[in-house]
Amino acid sequence: MELEMKSSIIMHPLAVRLMHWTNAAAMIVMIMSGWKIYNDEVLFGFLHFPEEIVLGIWAQHALQWHFLGMWILVLNGLAYLTYGVLSGRFRRLFFPISPRELVREAVAALRFRLKHTDLTHYNAVQKSLYVGVILVVALQVVSGLAIWKPVQFSFLVSLFYDFQGARLAHFAGMTAIVLFILVHVSLAILVPRTLLGMLTGGPRLDASRETAVTPSPTSNP
Ligand code: HEM
Repeated sequence: MELEMKSSIIMHPLAVRLMHWTNAAAMIVMIMSGWKIYNDEVLFGFLHFPEEIVLGIWAQHALQWHFLGMWILVLNGLAYLTYGVLSGRFRRLFFPISPRELVREAVAALRFRLKHTDLTHYNAVQKSLYVGVILVVALQVVSGLAIWKPVQFSFLVSLFYDFQGARLAHFAGMTAIVLFILVHVSLAILVPRTLLGMLTGGPRLDASRETAVTPSPTSNP
């Protein structure tokens, strides 16, 4: 907690920005190469991803991209998780999540009435989306390992019932991440100051927040 509070006085320290954009790039590589691998043996007969949006010339080539993305994503993700926990960033920015505020703000968001004026706080919708996507990405790594080495990681396969279950879970995880990205990028475009913040560091945290160890208010005015 103290680490980030004292060492950084801006919303998104350089380390967070580097990890966020590395994650975004790796995620895009993983999704597009995953679509090419999926096309090789589809789960749903009606669904093939167009060649224009896939990465890789053939399935094996796409698999190489997928593994490159995976290593970057996993190493970067572990660094982000370690930083988030040890610095207190997660506790300060992502928790607590009030179910009542979540419902109120989700309704406001659906009516395009959710304001994001204080960029030093995340609202309950953002908190839930961020915590949710981090959990989905972690689960995606687990189902990915199960599909990659189903014999060596048979205990992981059994978490998803069988191999086909792991494939389905991996597909569902990808769908959730793609939906997250669509919402997340739309919100970033709607409130461009947040985008600028994730590029340049964002607003400075005031002195009281730099020393505060208690969670900050969840909703934005
Ligand atoms: C691809 C384009 C992306 C754009 C333009 C983008 C943009 C942003 C922006 C502007 C913020 C700061 C929001 C704020 O301060 O209110 C943010 C935070 C965040 N984004 Fe993204 N993002 C992208 C991709 C992703 C992906 C792929 C993921 C994960 C799968 C992700 C996960 C997160 C998380 C967890 C945070 C909170 C980080 C923290 O405060 O520690 N983003 N993003």
